[in-house]
Amino acid sequence: MTTVIPVFVFVAATLMLSSFERYGNKNFGVQGNPKGLKDYYINFFPIGVAIAPNNLEGDQAELIKQNFNSLTAENVMKPALIHPEENRYSWENAERIVKFAQENGMKVRGHTLCWHNQTAAWMFKDSLGNQVSRDLALARLKDHIITVVSHFKGKVYAWDVLNEAVVDDKAIDKIFRESNWYRICGEEYIPKVFQWAHEADPDAILFYNDYNTEDPVKRDKIYNLLKRLLEQHVPVHGVGLQGHWNINGPSERNIREAIEKFSSLGLKVQITELDVSVITSGADTVKTYTPEREQKQADFYKMAFGVFREKKNVITGVTFWNVSDRRSWLDRPDRKSFPLLFDVNLKPKKAFTEVVRF
Ligand code: XIL
Repeated sequence: MTTVIPVFVFVAATLMLSSFERYGNKNFGVQGNPKGLKDYYINFFPIGVAIAPNNLEGDQAELIKQNFNSLTAENVMKPALIHPEENRYSWENAERIVKFAQENGMKVRGHTLCWHNQTAAWMFKDSLGNQVSRDLALARLKDHIITVVSHFKGKVYAWDVLNEAVVDDKAIDKIFRESNWYRICGEEYIPKVFQWAHEADPDAILFYNDYNTEDPVKRDKIYNLLKRLLEQHVPVHGVGLQGHWNINGPSERNIREAIEKFSSLGLKVQITELDVSVITSGADTVKTYTPEREQKQADFYKMAFGVFREKKNVITGVTFWNVSDRRSWLDRPDRKSFPLLFDVNLKPKKAFTEVVRF
């Protein structure tokens, strides 16, 4: 009994000290509050972020640890980067992200196995430099998927197996994007990519991932594709709504209906690449983050997270695409998009406050 009290006091003091050390002068949450985004959402879903390896140092690494419990590689797991030559895989950058996640108790989403972008040119050329045959294209895609998924088996819990295979065209009978994969292999590559990923890691949760998934026309094309795949017993388990949105849309109704429609197939839904730009059209060149835009963005985020929380039974993750407004993939030399919850100094924005107020 006599030793219990001093031990308790010692432990309590150590905990207070270490939490002061962690948060004392680097508070990336709400002022004076060490809770991060992930802590507010602990009873809802993991909160992730897409990162480059150089985000894993300094103040950004601290912000990531405090706020997120899931990581996605923004680029370094994509085909062109992880498999730059036929007989060479480049694992190092992806492994750094996986190691950081493991050390900090975070999940890892794999992004992406089959896409029309960021895929090396060699994949589509034979030894004479001509376009590959259908058989060679499929053999290479199989090798790529089996090798990458096996490499991260048990470390990457979910994969964006197929990215953006459906076209934006309003014509309802035009479904597939004219990618190299589609042109060379026809639609039969689609079930195969899921089957290969499943073969390599039967425990991995496999996603179809796309943007504009809230647009009713594109949504229904994706829905019909997924329905057919499920009827054929293809191992697809979830649909990723990228969530590259802006302060004008999509509407609350379209977001809710997309989630409801996809989940009616028995699929899980994740928001995989969330950002809400203040730029609302290609012609928009306003460079400043005006109070009006800041408020509209906060309102949009509040609305979106309200829907996500309402749908927590089917939503199994929400991932932001980049850490803070310091760098977003949407930025161009002539304009900034300010799409995230942390500002250029890594301080939480008004939108952050709305996302954690419920
Ligand atoms: C983007 C990255 O953020 C950029 O750094 C890169 O130059 C291009 O790709 N949809 C996706 C992501 O599925 O992989 C894209 O990421 C953004 C759009």
